[in-house]
Amino acid sequence: MENNTIYILAIESSCDDTSAAVLCNKKVLSNVVATQKIHEEYGGVVPELASRAHQQNIIPVVHQALTKANIDKKQLSAIAFTRGPGLMGSLLVGTSFAKSLAMGLNIPLIEVNHMQAHILAHFIEGDDMKPPEFPFLALTISGGHTQIVLVSGFFDMDILGESLDDAVGEAYDKSAKVLGLPYPGGPLVDKYAQLGNPRAYPFPKPTVDGLNFSFSGLKTSILYFIQRETKKDTDFINKNLNDICASIQYTITEILMDKLKKAVKQTAVTQIAIGGGVSANSGIRKALKNAEDSYGWTTYIPNFEYCTDNAAMIGIVGHFKYRASNFADQSVTAKARYAIGQ
Ligand code: KG4
Ligand code: ZN
Repeated sequence: MENNTIYILAIESSCDDTSAAVLCNKKVLSNVVATQKIHEEYGGVVPELASRAHQQNIIPVVHQALTKANIDKKQLSAIAFTRGPGLMGSLLVGTSFAKSLAMGLNIPLIEVNHMQAHILAHFIEGDDMKPPEFPFLALTISGGHTQIVLVSGFFDMDILGESLDDAVGEAYDKSAKVLGLPYPGGPLVDKYAQLGNPRAYPFPKPTVDGLNFSFSGLKTSILYFIQRETKKDTDFINKNLNDICASIQYTITEILMDKLKKAVKQTAVTQIAIGGGVSANSGIRKALKNAEDSYGWTTYIPNFEYCTDNAAMIGIVGHFKYRASNFADQSVTAKARYAIGQ
């Protein structure tokens, strides 16, 4: 029986969150995330500062994850880590740490694709977590990613569409910056949006073929709109913040839903799973729930702690790879650009 219990220590360091988790089979025993505050001052992630903060955080975060899980290093079956995609300097910290620890403990090393992890996070076992059935469509939306993926098996994924420029979270954060809101502005835009009129200011939706996205044009049109209006009335933002945020949120939600509808039409798959930090957004959540009634979709939204960057999602991929004996060797290196199917 003991041999059927797999303990994975997982490490995530692809962007600005240092995270470590311990999983016992598909259950999360601990999931510690140290969010780097330093970037707030700069209005965005500064890569050099991120890798330095990862170096400072990684030992205490791993230690805390093991302590919270009440697991000794000697009980671990394997170490899983994010190999990519992400910021090279950040990835290197987690990769080097994972390699050294696996070597020191003489246990297998498992490399994980961060985007696959956002999707497989749905398979973590928890009280209110219900896994989707294959095949399903995954919409991964965060500060670094916007993708629609057809998921036919744990490691059988095809990207159907992705952003050609900014990620949807970036569109939120950059629009928020134009409005004078602090970084990351996405949650604040969401908060004000809930108090405003979504149709107050119509912003143009981009015309991008197929299932790809583009968000840089929207960001520019919001910037020009604000510049134009504040020239007429310097207090324009203050007076209309809720309506502006509601209009931005409405446009972004429409863009995402239009593409999802197209993807459903193209694939005849009606199970939709979302992930990534932007899946916390109330407008997107509401639109998806409405689509269950209107179009007969089944939608899956993981617990918020497994939506944003976290190591538990790396651990669940580690679990499946361990079961498949899919291990990495010590020659493995971080990979800043790392497509899902690669
Ligand atoms: O997945 P995540 O934690 O990190 C990345 O991989 O980027 O996502 C962070 C992004 C940020 O852009 C943040 O503004 C956005 O998710 N975000 C939101 C909301 N909560 C987080 N955007 C819109 N509405 C929200 N409620
Ligand atoms: Zn992510």
